[in-house]
Amino acid sequence: MQAEASTETPTQKHGLAAGDAGRPASTDWTIPQGWERYTAADHATWKTLFERQSQLLPGRACDEFVAGMRDLPMRADEIPNFEQLNEVLQQRTGWQVVAVPGLVPDEVFFDHLANRRFPSGNFIRKPHELDYLEEPDVFHDVFGHVPMLMNPAIADFIQAYGQGGLRAQQLGHLTQLARVYWYTIEFGLLQQGNGLRLYGAGIASSFTESQFCLESPSPNRIRFDLERVMRTHYRIDDFQESYFVIRDLDELLEFTRIDFAPLYERTQAAPALQPGDVLPTEQVFSRGSGAYHAGKRKGS
Ligand SMILES: [Fe+2]
Repeated sequence: MQAEASTETPTQKHGLAAGDAGRPASTDWTIPQGWERYTAADHATWKTLFERQSQLLPGRACDEFVAGMRDLPMRADEIPNFEQLNEVLQQRTGWQVVAVPGLVPDEVFFDHLANRRFPSGNFIRKPHELDYLEEPDVFHDVFGHVPMLMNPAIADFIQAYGQGGLRAQQLGHLTQLARVYWYTIEFGLLQQGNGLRLYGAGIASSFTESQFCLESPSPNRIRFDLERVMRTHYRIDDFQESYFVIRDLDELLEFTRIDFAPLYERTQAAPALQPGDVLPTEQVFSRGSGAYHAGKRKGS
């Protein structure tokens, strides 16, 4: 057991859970984006982040991410206006972005996704915290997620995840389902003709992790297996120790046709796996040295 490995807690990054503290007046937690209230400094922060990531992503982000970005009204100079984004996004896949003040409760998050609404924080991080984020902001949510929502497979998968989330909550198996989202939509890699590419928003929007996930010798890169992933803890406080690789985005669509109820039973009964574990039977693209996290443990 690795005591250091953060496991899933009720409060998770990337839009999974929140308390009542920041609750707005609307029952679905949406608020106006308030685009006109962004300051010059806010737009400048977006520009710094946008330009930095735009230089890094060629050769790292998958073709679908690049195509989605190309077709959206998103540019370096200013934080995107959700209304303008939605004109394109809604026409392409029927999705829209809605503004929220930050993390929202699980059932609210799932209900939005089930109805093809992606909740995005309307705020942007401060200049002194470019690489550290307590809660997903507009850069993570829009730059990281929205290009992939232009893809029909991802569009259907995330909607199904929202529907599945509501059901998993009733069944008491949210932990297992949340791991699927984590290791795909947030931190997923895929195979492309010319090598591994990233498609997860958590890494696409991260300056450091978009390099670490593909180039560092430290993490494992393992062929994605649904039940295996449902048993695997993840890190919420640092780079992942393992990334899981899908064949292509259509593989995710296959999961939307599966009844998860028996999977919940089986994966609950099976031993849980730690973030750095590698099984003898699985296909490994690269076996990580684990040096990065070992160094952290030593230093702590
Ligand atoms: Fe996210």
